[in-house]
Amino acid sequence: MNKEFEGKYAIVTSGARGISFESAKILAQKGLSGVVLADLNIEQATESAKKLEDETGCSCYPCQVDVSKPEDIEHLFEFALEKMPTFHILVNGAGVCPTTPIEDLDADKWDWCMNINLRGAHLCMREAIKTMKKQKYGKIVNISSVVARIGGIASSVSYAVSKGGLLSATKSYAKVLGEYNINVYAVCPSVIKTNMTANTNYSTVGIPLGRLGETEDVAEVIVFLASDASKYIAGQGIDINGGSYMN
Ligand SMILES: NC(=O)c1ccc[n+]([C@@H]2O[C@H](COP(=O)([O-])OP(=O)(O)OC[C@H]3O[C@@H](n4cnc5c(N)ncnc54)[C@H](O)[C@@H]3O)[C@@H](O)[C@H]2O)c1
Repeated sequence: MNKEFEGKYAIVTSGARGISFESAKILAQKGLSGVVLADLNIEQATESAKKLEDETGCSCYPCQVDVSKPEDIEHLFEFALEKMPTFHILVNGAGVCPTTPIEDLDADKWDWCMNINLRGAHLCMREAIKTMKKQKYGKIVNISSVVARIGGIASSVSYAVSKGGLLSATKSYAKVLGEYNINVYAVCPSVIKTNMTANTNYSTVGIPLGRLGETEDVAEVIVFLASDASKYIAGQGIDINGGSYMN
């Protein structure tokens, strides 16, 4: 059995379900020693943590976090260091995908999306690097989106801007953190079948691989980025879209 993540610990935001949970699951299957599943939905996070721990033996700690609240993020990192000796991997997955039309996108609605998708990820990175810099090791994967490349599809402009901002933050962090052996990456998925897209009706026309994405399609790439196999990649946004957009 592949145990390449043995002795490694991770924090995964939005880890209760979807792409982020799938990433935690594959890490755990590959020997990860411990993970905090941080999510707004503590019931789902608790259920997922128990299931994952039972299935893989990885120590799984659910933690309720609203990433739009700076105090929740501080608590998350304190909690992580109480439960685990350290952490090596941060997956910034927490996100919302509003479909609000421009005319209805007032300041509060704009800020709501930005504070979760962009400021929340920034504040998590800011906390994470305190530990990562000291140990001179860290892997940070931000879940951006294809909309960072091409603008929103059915999503609101606030979603596209938040994901575009996350992609440029990724590059900025990678530039200043490389000297501490901290790699920062983004993934840019197109439509992936999760709760977020459950009530949509996206076509597969224009996707060379002929299907929408599954959580595993993104999670496998996140796990590669979290591994040492990707050690000479930094600041990249990896496109995961079945070929529908080629950079
Ligand atoms: N599904 C797609 O097509 C797709 C495509 C590109 C990018 N993404 C991104 O992938 C990430 C994961 O989404 P998913 O598709 O797995 O969706 P999902 O709806 O299955 O999961 C989202 C999770 O985020 C949590 N969450 C929401 N607001 C939060 C907050 N304020 N604080 C903490 N947690 C919060 C939810 O409770 C939920 O568990 C998101 O950032 C999303 O924007 C998704």
